[in-house]
Amino acid sequence: MTTDTTTKDTTPGAAAPGETVLDARGVTMRFGGLTAVRGVDLTVGAGEIVGLIGPNGAGKTTFFNCLTGLYVPTEGEVRYKGNVLPPKSFKVTAAGIARTFQNIRLFANMTVLENVLVGRHTRTKEGFWSAVLRGPGFHKAEKASRDRAMELLAFVGLDHKAEHLARNLPYGEQRKLEIARALASEPGLLLLDEPTAGMNPQETRTTEELVFAIRDMGIAVLVIEHDMRFIFNLCDRVAVLVQGEKLIEGDSATVQGDERVVAAYLGEPFENAPGAEEAAEVEAAEAHAEPTTDAAPGKENDR
Ligand SMILES: Nc1ncnc2c1ncn2[C@@H]1O[C@H](COP(=O)(O)OP(=O)(O)OP(=O)(O)O)[C@@H](O)[C@H]1O
Ligand SMILES: [Mg+2]
Repeated sequence: MTTDTTTKDTTPGAAAPGETVLDARGVTMRFGGLTAVRGVDLTVGAGEIVGLIGPNGAGKTTFFNCLTGLYVPTEGEVRYKGNVLPPKSFKVTAAGIARTFQNIRLFANMTVLENVLVGRHTRTKEGFWSAVLRGPGFHKAEKASRDRAMELLAFVGLDHKAEHLARNLPYGEQRKLEIARALASEPGLLLLDEPTAGMNPQETRTTEELVFAIRDMGIAVLVIEHDMRFIFNLCDRVAVLVQGEKLIEGDSATVQGDERVVAAYLGEPFENAPGAEEAAEVEAAEAHAEPTTDAAPGKENDR
């Protein structure tokens, strides 16, 4: 086996089966008088894909920000593999949590490959002098980083566009590039904030396969999405946030069949969805009893 001088730790450790990767307890985030997230507990175990859903403004992105050091929660504690999170984003990334953003954050004027290389900086240990002097260590490190970045681009299906400028990619491909960049930090947990927003159905399907493949690589996934078919096909567990609080958490069928979730968020269950029949029965029974509010997920204040 050769020793890789480029990276501290390219495999931060596929978590042991059953290990709790993320443990958020009592997370509360207040902005002045507004409590955006209130007392939320959520765990993600090794090998799990967990979904986080809820209406616009429910606090999903704010909760993600509390998991990534962007915000320090007003109350509560977040642990990653047993350790309390450091209060800085770059330290959280180095610890092993990577994310994508609801509003894509790429370096528009850099190439696709360069964007992924930027994502690797927390894993490369070549220092300032090495970069300035550009000795053999630097070149070896650079090559290994590029090889890994190309591997990740191939993984998300963008290797043929490595030299394109990020801003010239169609929207769906920019979202995939964000995933490749997040993976470049070799995370143990990946947080995806609306990964299929703006994608066509075909792109959404390939993203679903991509997330399964990421899970199979030993990376736990927490995903926010408004596309319910995507969420309920993909996730082992789904938590529902409403007005900053966790309303319910369970498997797809349980969540879809919960009348409070239907009333607060889902509206009509989609055809052939897991739990759709049960939900339909509940609705039919309710229709006979008393009318329910019918609030479908909206997208009007998407950021
Ligand atoms: N930095 C901030 N300062 C003040 N209020 C904020 C801040 N960030 C979020 N909020 C407020 O917190 C609430 C939750 O917002 P958040 O973006 O977390 O919702 P969300 O569930 O991600 O919604 P969406 O589905 O539309 O993305 C909203 O009322 C929002 O206006
Ligand atoms: Mg959001």
